[in-house]
Amino acid sequence: MSAPIGVAAALAARFDSSVTPRPQLWDQFKLTDRVGLVTGGNRGLGLEMALALLEAGARAVYCVDLPSEPGEEWKAVRDYVEAMGTGGRLEYVSQDVTKQEAMWAAAQSIGDKEGRMDVGIAAAGIVIAGKSGLDFTAHEFQSVLDVNASGVMFTAQAVGRQMDRFGTPGSIILISSIAGTVALDIKSLPYDTSKSAVLQMARSLACELGPKRIRVNTVSPGFVHTEMSRPTIQSDPATLVRWSAQNPLGRIATPDELRGVVAWLASDASSFCTGSNIFVDGGHHSW
Ligand SMILES: NC(=O)c1ccc[n+]([C@@H]2O[C@H](COP(=O)([O-])OP(=O)(O)OC[C@H]3O[C@@H](n4cnc5c(N)ncnc54)[C@H](O)[C@@H]3O)[C@@H](O)[C@H]2O)c1
Repeated sequence: MSAPIGVAAALAARFDSSVTPRPQLWDQFKLTDRVGLVTGGNRGLGLEMALALLEAGARAVYCVDLPSEPGEEWKAVRDYVEAMGTGGRLEYVSQDVTKQEAMWAAAQSIGDKEGRMDVGIAAAGIVIAGKSGLDFTAHEFQSVLDVNASGVMFTAQAVGRQMDRFGTPGSIILISSIAGTVALDIKSLPYDTSKSAVLQMARSLACELGPKRIRVNTVSPGFVHTEMSRPTIQSDPATLVRWSAQNPLGRIATPDELRGVVAWLASDASSFCTGSNIFVDGGHHSW
């Protein structure tokens, strides 16, 4: 008779039948003692994602962003993390993601200090919109690609080199957008192009880094209420109605609705997921 397979076999391998079973699913989501780096972490989705990693038990999450000092929103989250009493630390690093060697050095100094690097999230991004695709200048196009494509690659390299250095498994999460798959209705050719580049970047890196047990995935949010979307919504109140009508749920997202997917991708609960793009867009891509 062949060896048993499936859930029963897995249970037999996992449990000592002499002890009472207990639910173990949430254990797979725990990030106990893990170290992460999140770009764009001074505010918005990056900061929300950094908090999610800490709530899942991470030891330290380093937020990389442009300002020399973190803002009030970041400080409020840091205070909240301290009040949680888990011992987890929200740290801040002032750095420009478009500076390749500086990004590598920043991740290396985190590795030197913490002795590990487990999670990297590339959330820094900019958008230029409201201009015909026939008129964008070379400089405008390049400036978006510098942050949203090159900066994402430099971030992935920075954390991936540390994961490789320590020979430990890792999860790299690149924040793309629904704009990487469907064109937005805000005349944003450089942005849409950059987000599409991120999708292929993740697939390429995932194939190469799989043997090193480093997973690389993308998240594609639909429209979310953040400082990035706020100017467009405020300049034309009809925008929110239009964007809401572009997905089956009939609204746009709040930043906390990205927490679950990031916690899952960062954790062992997604251990067989790499090279994937996860839409969190209210079904926008389905239409
Ligand atoms: N808000 C949305 O509707 C939405 C939808 C889909 C995808 N996204 C993506 O999510 C990510 C986060 O966006 P957000 O909505 O939180 O925007 P946000 O503008 O609130 O945050 C972006 C952060 O990136 C930082 N940043 C920009 N350039 C940088 C650089 N060169 N180096 C380091 N940091 C830099 C900014 O200072 C800012 O703190 C972006 O990649 C964005 O494209 C946003």
